[in-house]
Amino acid sequence: MVGTENAGAANAAELFRGKSVVITGASTGIGSGFARHAAALGMRVVLADIAEEPLRALAAELREAGAQAEAVRTDVSDAGAVAALADRADELFGGTDMLINNAGIMAMGYSWEIPLERWEAMLRINTGGVVNGLHAFVPRMLERGTRAWILNLSSVGGFAAAPLMAPYSATKFANLALTESLHLEMQMRGAPIQVSVVTPGSVKSEIFSTARTTETDVKPEVAAMNGQLQRLADEHGISPEEHARRVFEQVAEGRFWVVPQPDQLDPMLRPRTEMILSRTDPRLPGEF
Ligand SMILES: NC(=O)c1ccc[n+]([C@@H]2O[C@H](COP(=O)([O-])OP(=O)(O)OC[C@H]3O[C@@H](n4cnc5c(N)ncnc54)[C@H](O)[C@@H]3O)[C@@H](O)[C@H]2O)c1
Repeated sequence: MVGTENAGAANAAELFRGKSVVITGASTGIGSGFARHAAALGMRVVLADIAEEPLRALAAELREAGAQAEAVRTDVSDAGAVAALADRADELFGGTDMLINNAGIMAMGYSWEIPLERWEAMLRINTGGVVNGLHAFVPRMLERGTRAWILNLSSVGGFAAAPLMAPYSATKFANLALTESLHLEMQMRGAPIQVSVVTPGSVKSEIFSTARTTETDVKPEVAAMNGQLQRLADEHGISPEEHARRVFEQVAEGRFWVVPQPDQLDPMLRPRTEMILSRTDPRLPGEF
């Protein structure tokens, strides 16, 4: 395994040096880890996020470290803005070799109580953002005809639904499905575009703290679950930089299934499959 990891690392540096990458949701958390790691590999980086100030600060940090990096404020739920992002990447670096559709948000609460506007935002950002990315970038990648990579963020939560986070479960299942469809479509077209689904476990980030925005969050069971997930990330989550290192290694190995934390995904896959095969109803985990 160590040998494989080293081979992946060598491949990542070799494969990706000098390539251009567009990363959405790059201001903080997992996206900022992708940006720092990509820059360290010698990639030319376009950072996209709706939060402009931290985005510009990160671009400046990367440039100071010697990287080519540019910040482009982008709302991924706006198809026009994502098309403009692709135009800008073309202007800056002559095209996009790698697209990382990473931007995503969380909402917690009972599915019928999460406000409709929050549901809509989840659908439009978490999954609509990926669709907008594909619409803007895939035709350009196909036309260029050079080797390219598309990474879409799902989650360990894209394999098993959780209570009190239905919009998250729904969008992360959707991202898994649409990424698999896209991968098959690339095979049909014989396109040199490698499609990968990224399925993080617990990674240190802002996603739970920024989810505490709606009135449904004050319910004790919702606050308890949010706190539990935040603690899991704080105490056991890997850093965004370590996450990025594992992801780039696996992508360099040519994998569709990019699983940075197999210890968190693998133990749940077999019981889940057995639950479905045996037609057993879904059950709450012990602590509920
Ligand atoms: N942190 C984890 O444990 C974890 C686990 C599994 C999957 N993920 C996934 O990883 C991705 C990144 O999450 P994170 O944990 O780093 O969260 P985060 O909240 O730290 O970062 C998300 C980033 O997305 C940006 N963003 C939000 N709305 C946007 C929009 N409309 N347009 C552009 N950018 C927007 C935010 O400003 C922020 O910078 C998400 O897709 C998330 O679902 C995270």
